[in-house]
Amino acid sequence: MDPLYEGKAKKLYSTDDSEVLRMEYKDDATAFNAEKKAQFENKGKLNKAITLLMYQMLEEKGVATHLVADLDEVNLLVKRVDILQVEVIVRNLAAGSFSKRMGVEEGAEFEIPIVEFSYKSDELGDPLINDDYARELKLATPEECALLKKQALVINGVMSDFFMECGLKLVDFKIEFGKTTDGEIVLADEVSPDTCRLWDATTGRKMDKDRFRQDLGGVMEGYEEVLERVAKARE
Ligand code: TMP
Repeated sequence: MDPLYEGKAKKLYSTDDSEVLRMEYKDDATAFNAEKKAQFENKGKLNKAITLLMYQMLEEKGVATHLVADLDEVNLLVKRVDILQVEVIVRNLAAGSFSKRMGVEEGAEFEIPIVEFSYKSDELGDPLINDDYARELKLATPEECALLKKQALVINGVMSDFFMECGLKLVDFKIEFGKTTDGEIVLADEVSPDTCRLWDATTGRKMDKDRFRQDLGGVMEGYEEVLERVAKARE
């Protein structure tokens, strides 16, 4: 069966239920808008397992997600949604593109988290936008942008507390939202070390995709440890 959609790290397939899709997590890893590519054995499995546990935790805290059910090692069943073409990034500490763009040392803590929007476009390299861009490009209405920001900050609070219980500092993350057929906006896509920067709370060791971006080695070891800690905190 051909996928309905294939992204850099996941594929989406239809199911017997028109409202439900199968989301397959791939072992492919890309960075810097796919300039850098690799395959990591078990990445799909690890990211699926971490996303599932994170979605279940978030749902318990009242955050609506597109999760329907766990299916198998690399597949989740998810609600069919229209993904808003706005990626929402929340930053608690300076890192990555923020540090590069602003010349701020990695690890500097923000007094209040920063929320950022970017246009989900591989062609353009996910450029930074604001709510005026989103309005004029018809990516999201001003009301939707306000909701995305509010929801992203709620998710940041819940996830930061949870990861702290796992001995992990949530440095920053990217999330995506989708609109269900009922018009509800829910958290979609994934929550994994591909999309979150996570540092060991004691040693500061990086345990996310920066190990791949920065050639630090032990990429899957980092993801495995994140899964172990998340699973333990969910016991
Ligand atoms: P950045 O510092 O490179 O802008 O990344 C911010 C966060 O967003 C970081 O946790 C990694 C994540 N991210 C993605 O999930 N996908 C992307 O395409 C990019 C650029 C970042």
